[in-house]
Parts: sequence; C-alpha cells; structure tokens
Amino acid sequence: MSVNQFSESLIRWYELHRRELPWRETKDPYRIWISEIILQQTRVAQGYAYYCRFIERFPDVCSLAEAHEDEVMKMWQGLGYYSRARNLHEAARSLAGRGRLPETYKEVRAMKGVGDYTAAAICSFAYDMPCAVVDGNVYRVLSRWMGVDEPIDTAAGKKLFAQLADQLLDRKHPAVYNQAIMDFGALQCVPASPDCQVCPLADSCVALRDKRVEELPRKSHK
Ligand code: ADE
Repeated sequence: MSVNQFSESLIRWYELHRRELPWRETKDPYRIWISEIILQQTRVAQGYAYYCRFIERFPDVCSLAEAHEDEVMKMWQGLGYYSRARNLHEAARSLAGRGRLPETYKEVRAMKGVGDYTAAAICSFAYDMPCAVVDGNVYRVLSRWMGVDEPIDTAAGKKLFAQLADQLLDRKHPAVYNQAIMDFGALQCVPASPDCQVCPLADSCVALRDKRVEELPRKSHK
C-alpha cells in the first residue's frame, strides 16, 4: 500500500466514523488552541462541557487576556493540571497587543504551554500547514501498521516516529488527515483487543500479519 493509499483509507474511514465536535467545526486558531490544551490531559467526554463554557465566557484572545486570573482558574475548576490554565492566561496576555494567535509554526510553538503536538495541531487544523501531529494514538497506528519495534518513550524513538509521521502526512489535506489518524487510533486501532476484522488497513498491517498487534507500540523498560 502506498503513502497515498494509507491516507485515502484513513480519510475514508474518518468520513464514515467521525465524531462531530465543536472544535472541528471551526478554523479559528484561538478555539483550536483552547480545545487542544483542554484535551491534552482530559477526555473528550469531560472536556466538551468545559470547552463550551470557556469559549462562551472567553470567545477570543482579548477577552481571555483581560480576565482576572481567579475567574480563569474558576472556569478550569475540576479539570486538574492547573498550570494549563495559568499558561493559557499568560499566553493570551502576551498576545493581547496583536489580539490573535500568531501565524507561523515557530511563533505558535513559542507560546507558553504549547509543545510540538499542540503547535502541529493548531497549525494544521487552523492554517492547513503540513505539520504532522504525533500523539499516543498516532504512535499506536504507525507502530502497528509499519511493524516498528522502536520504543516510543526514548529520544531515538520519538525522533523516528516524528520522521515516519512526517513522511506519511497527507500534504494536500493535513487538517483532515491529522484528525483522521488521531480518531482512527482512538476508535479503531485501540490499545487492547482492536477489532482488526473490520479494519480498512488490515491487508497491509505488518503487526496484524506478524500477530504482534497487542505487543505494539513498545515502551522501553526504564
Ligand atoms: N484529543 C486531542 N485533540 C483532539 C481533537 N482535536 N479531537 C478529538 N480528540 C482530541
């Protein structure tokens, strides 16, 4: 199966199974940023209501920048990992002069609280930049489909998977491709007992062929 066929299969699967989520109905980088920070350590089922309340109260960079810290923290109450909220507020304050998010990967990546994953998510979803997202779901899909043994929690492993993700990224449709591979990992290529009988990538999956689906992705025994 070629790189193009891989992407086409994922996108076709996504169109049949996609979840309708409010941050997917927008190209507003601010909303995408907020959703990705909430979803970093929070499940969609819990994060959904927080996202809606947060966006209603703070619909843009300026309203968040102008808010009192106590109110921002109160909106975050119950989500945990409170440094996320403090970083969001601090980043919004530093962007208040321009009133919106930056438009280059480098500047987005430099925002407080934004790492490689979140920068790639914002730049691909909002701006359709060719940045591959690499999260736990992507590690699982790539390690299984390609049969990659390299542990995902070492510097060398992270580098390798970032390269593979970049090679497989659909540069014509980065936003939908990234959403597709993340949802595919979350819903089809799940950690335990995935239903490979109905998987559109079964014919070309190295882990399935070698009966190693449950062994991958590997972690180092640190
Ligand atoms: N988890 C992290 N980002 C997500 C997104 N954009 N949609 C669904 N789940 C996610």
